[in-house]
Amino acid sequence: MAAFVVKGGSSLRGEVTIGGAKNVALKAILASLLTDDELVLHNIPDIRDVTYLLEMLQKMGMSIRRNGHSVRIRDGRLKELAVPFDVGARLRTSSMVIGPMLARWAQAKIPNPGGCRIGARPIDRHIAGLRKMGASISYSSRDGYYYAQTDGLHGAVITFPKNTHTGTETLILAAVLAKGRTVLKNAASEVEIDDLMALLNSMGAQVKRVAPREIVIDGAAKLHGADYTIMPDRNEEVTFAIAAFVTRGDLTIHNSQPHNLTAFFESLAAAGAHIEVKDKSTTRYIGDGTLRSTDVVTEPHPGFMTDWQSPWTLLMTQAKGASTLHETVFESRLSYVGELQKMGAKIEFFDPKVLNPRKFYNFNWRRADKDTHQAIRIIGPTKLHNAVVVMNDLRAGATLLLATLVASGTSYLHGVEQIDRGYEKIEERLNSLGAHIERVEENHV
Ligand code: EPZ
Repeated sequence: MAAFVVKGGSSLRGEVTIGGAKNVALKAILASLLTDDELVLHNIPDIRDVTYLLEMLQKMGMSIRRNGHSVRIRDGRLKELAVPFDVGARLRTSSMVIGPMLARWAQAKIPNPGGCRIGARPIDRHIAGLRKMGASISYSSRDGYYYAQTDGLHGAVITFPKNTHTGTETLILAAVLAKGRTVLKNAASEVEIDDLMALLNSMGAQVKRVAPREIVIDGAAKLHGADYTIMPDRNEEVTFAIAAFVTRGDLTIHNSQPHNLTAFFESLAAAGAHIEVKDKSTTRYIGDGTLRSTDVVTEPHPGFMTDWQSPWTLLMTQAKGASTLHETVFESRLSYVGELQKMGAKIEFFDPKVLNPRKFYNFNWRRADKDTHQAIRIIGPTKLHNAVVVMNDLRAGATLLLATLVASGTSYLHGVEQIDRGYEKIEERLNSLGAHIERVEENHV
């Protein structure tokens, strides 16, 4: 296990190139299960979640060749149509194989991906959709696996009760080989889904978004291979942008995507942040002024993404006044707040009055959720000081790393593997911009 030792207080300056989107790469890799031709993918980030998923597919019999940010995947002789339990627990996205496996081989066995640090994260919406397409799926609480089979998936009209990003993608990955037309209503509109759709269409699928929240898929008999480059990572850009502001630095971001970050740019404008959009893929973020406080509510795309919530909290500790942040997508995505408080941040929890919480929140709200908090009030600007902090989820981990860059003194961060899941060579890239981060073995801290 590794840890970071961070000497705080430096401003980040220079140029950053954003890597491929983690939340496209993982699903693009799963699309390889839909064809026995070779699928070639480029701009695949060298991050732990990608490695885990490729290792899993290799164990199941796929042949994988990885060269830098390109991956060649060919359908080897699949030994089994089951996801190993330990992999399913470690990488939630692996449970999405149920879609392509049912479509291609009419059966699948996946572990219940279960909750993680940000909430229960069930897959009831995925399962309900697949059942409508002709899959029979049972869950065994004895071994924690879903057992799925079908006599052949068929098209269906499916209306999601609430937004689900990977639920929408799982059903697309199933419907592209199903018999007939599938219509997904109240489908998620994250732009990463449209990148996956473009990949599938380049493989011979017929998928199109006919309205902001409606997707139509006409099943094909067979899909062929393709050579495809995935889009850059919006979450990574937001992380580096906020790093520039909180360290009072100046970062020029390449592979920037202002057109896909409207809600982020609107909140930055409300905060009075200094941004220069140089061209459609280059943006300069300059931390040269005092930021104003803001009130943000997270929502599915095109709203302010839940993945930006924790770095935004850090930003607001450096803004003037009282800010509020209301998390509506996941039911426990504020666990990092305690770690920021340890560093001197002035943050308190509160629960905004919500007329109909069952409808308002994107997670499956239960009375019990009254005990968890969904909103915080942040008072700024506050000076942060060093601490020993624990990173326990990907985006919170990135936030705490940025916080130790802002803090005075030397900090220790445990749980670095969390950040390695989604950020490639994070300390090398930050150090090249002026940070002082050292990766050490856990027991040396
Ligand atoms: C995807 O998670 C992303 N992960 C998340 O990014 C991202 O935060 C999220 O979408 C929102 O955009 C990947 O793409 C791998 P949801 P996903 O299904 O699909 C509840 C990161 O840091 N729900 O839209 O799991 C669910 O519990 C990760 O890169 C059900 O109750 O999100 C959550 O509260 C974190 N039942 C809410 O809905 C279901 O069947 C939204 O979930 C499905 C979802």
